[in-house]
Amino acid sequence: MSNNTYTDLVKQTFYFPQEGFHVEDGYLQFNGLDIKSLITKYGTPLKISYLPKIGMQINKAKDMFAKAFKKHKYEGDYFYCYCTKSSHFSFVVEEALKHNIHLETSYAYDIEIINKLYEKKKINKDIFIICNGYKQRSYTSRIAKLLNTGFKNVVPVLDNKEELDAYKRSVKVPFKLGIRVAAEEEPTFPFYTSRLGVRAKDILEFYVDNIEGYEDKFQLKMLHIFLNKGIKDDIYYWSELNKVVNLYCQLKKICPELDSINIGGGFPIKHSLGFEYDYQFMVNEIVGNIKKACKKAKVKMPHIYTEFGSYTVGESMAHIYSVIGQKNQNDRETWYMIDSSFITTLPDTWGIGERFLMLPVNKWENDYQRVVLGGITCDSHDYYDSEEHINEVFLPKVHSNGETEKDKEPLYVGFFHTGAYQDQISGYGGIKHCLIPSPKHVIVERDRNGKLVDWLYAKEQTSQSMLKILGYIK
Ligand SMILES: Cc1ncc(COP(=O)(O)O)c(C=O)c1O
Repeated sequence: MSNNTYTDLVKQTFYFPQEGFHVEDGYLQFNGLDIKSLITKYGTPLKISYLPKIGMQINKAKDMFAKAFKKHKYEGDYFYCYCTKSSHFSFVVEEALKHNIHLETSYAYDIEIINKLYEKKKINKDIFIICNGYKQRSYTSRIAKLLNTGFKNVVPVLDNKEELDAYKRSVKVPFKLGIRVAAEEEPTFPFYTSRLGVRAKDILEFYVDNIEGYEDKFQLKMLHIFLNKGIKDDIYYWSELNKVVNLYCQLKKICPELDSINIGGGFPIKHSLGFEYDYQFMVNEIVGNIKKACKKAKVKMPHIYTEFGSYTVGESMAHIYSVIGQKNQNDRETWYMIDSSFITTLPDTWGIGERFLMLPVNKWENDYQRVVLGGITCDSHDYYDSEEHINEVFLPKVHSNGETEKDKEPLYVGFFHTGAYQDQISGYGGIKHCLIPSPKHVIVERDRNGKLVDWLYAKEQTSQSMLKILGYIK
């Protein structure tokens, strides 16, 4: 018997099985879901949203902050906000809201989502809505309307100094304010300082000139920082975090209302079976660092807010493709052509070289080989050729002319933890490169009795819908 099977490869490279992934009767299971049965029912290409994962992630983070607060005897509260931009879908946001969270918004239209959630009684007016972004009038006026109609915990986070004028004009009730501190970018980035937020060295003066003395109208409550590169145990992260904590300590002495630090998003997720990240260690360090600085400066510790996007929703989703053909274009390169496109369905693989956790769904007992996955657009960049842990892609050989039913099946390839940003960046529906349609989308969730149920959220996009956008059909 061969010891070059895909199973052998995985077991030699990683600990396997592991949380969320195991193989049963030769088929990969994702969080206990039998992907093959969903493929049989719905076909490929297929997007699957497994909603229970969202609550699991939220509760895991809350638990870690609770443990860190206990460990450090931290005197403040933790607020988990979900940043809607990572996936605005109602089924995602409503699932997250079942777990007692708050929300973060990025643009004017997010506020329309807030209005709808309120109408549907999914939120009440006590929820914290953290409003980020470089705001146009359409956004500030909607924020003002929320405040004027009694959403008392809407916190516009000033991206620039001028933004405050818009609220001064339009908000008729006392309200809370945040300021985003512009982060220094990592040395590898083309810019020194983020374009988002207010320069750290300008903030004290801005407070004294524009906010102090108006406390009956608006109060500075929150300092906000978000680091592009995420929450990582490196010098860059700790020095940027310390910068905002030190600013908090300085400001707190003249601005007693200030009581919160928002560290934004940036918790990583698993993009490879080899992923190792000690979440609890990082939370302990963040909480410990904030406490230490506050003790030293003799100021009250702030409440801590996070706005995890990828972490909340990323791991809840999978994209499943069939390999529809194999092409050997020379003696060394084997292409596996998929029944969709990487550019249109997983745009981060193409735009920023993102790697997702990739595994075959079937044929784990076949020998493996090095391949390049190709999409069916005409674009030469529509390919996937390296994984997070290795600059290559290995998949089982197809043997499509074999004897058994299993042999006759196509190879199915899954990309996992794809739930954040991909639909948002690709544009859901709409026209697509080479008019490759958006795949069908299935939701898996628990019903009232806790039983898992699956249902079709969206069919594969039709030619009619594209022709309409293109002006061929009225
Ligand atoms: C202000 C802000 N908060 C939160 C997030 C979410 O980040 P992530 O998805 O990495 O958690 C972003 C992402 O761009 C952001 O800009």
